[in-house]
Amino acid sequence: MNLKDQVAIITGAGGALGRGTALVLARAGAAIVVAEERADRGREAAEAVRQAGGRALFVRTDVSSASSVKAMVARAVRELGGVDVLVNNAAIYPSRPWTEIREKEWDRVFAVNIKGYYLCARACYPYFQARGRGKIINISSITFYLGFAKLLDYVSTKGAVVGFTRALAREVGPGNICVNCIAPGAFPTDAEKIHPDPKGYNRWVLEQQSTKRRGTAEDIGHAVLFLASRESDFITGQTLMVDGGWSMK
Ligand SMILES: NC(=O)c1ccc[n+]([C@@H]2O[C@H](COP(=O)([O-])OP(=O)(O)OC[C@H]3O[C@@H](n4cnc5c(N)ncnc54)[C@H](O)[C@@H]3O)[C@@H](O)[C@H]2O)c1
Repeated sequence: MNLKDQVAIITGAGGALGRGTALVLARAGAAIVVAEERADRGREAAEAVRQAGGRALFVRTDVSSASSVKAMVARAVRELGGVDVLVNNAAIYPSRPWTEIREKEWDRVFAVNIKGYYLCARACYPYFQARGRGKIINISSITFYLGFAKLLDYVSTKGAVVGFTRALAREVGPGNICVNCIAPGAFPTDAEKIHPDPKGYNRWVLEQQSTKRRGTAEDIGHAVLFLASRESDFITGQTLMVDGGWSMK
């Protein structure tokens, strides 16, 4: 599988899984757009891609803002020549009991985790049409399938991502645009720091999985690479669980 001469936008690529995905896609030949809200993380991720011999452009982006997303995609097209792949990955995951979620926080989680996916897809669409093909990979979460406590707004958005994937796949399929979804299991990243007992949580995750090791950002990157490549051209509207055999949906 290779993405030679292709351009891949990865939102939230300053974070753990997005950065790992950026490195995998860059190794496969893609030029990477790191669309990240946090400048420090974004610059670092782009530099890591360059250090590994790839091409990367960091564009500070807030995926919940239509104007910010539009400007990011326009810059990607201007500086790299187009867009072939969009990885909707940026998300926030504040954890608290559901009765403690404030309305503003609820709205923010939805604005980033699902409206952001829509805005990015919408902004890339004309460029996919210009190429006569395109790949959108949306990152959901195993938490939607299992139902996780103290993450009600987050889990709700991750369910929305699955519906968004299916409905959009129907609409853009005739234009050779594939839309798929990846639902990661639990990865040992910053997200895990929200747990009060990380060691116990690690043990519990390994018990749930069929594969007895923790997942890595590369595991996600390889699944994204497949869904971004021509080898998956006949697959659309699907959700791939990348969870070490935890959920087996
Ligand atoms: N880590 C896990 O175990 C896990 C499990 C299931 C699903 N996921 C999903 O994988 C994806 C990546 O997770 P991660 O663990 O790498 O998280 P992370 O927090 O390390 O990375 C997310 C990145 O998104 C960025 N971001 C946040 N709001 C943004 C905005 N408005 N605009 C642009 N960028 C923004 C953050 O700055 C951060 O760098 C998310 O969609 C998450 O829901 C992760």
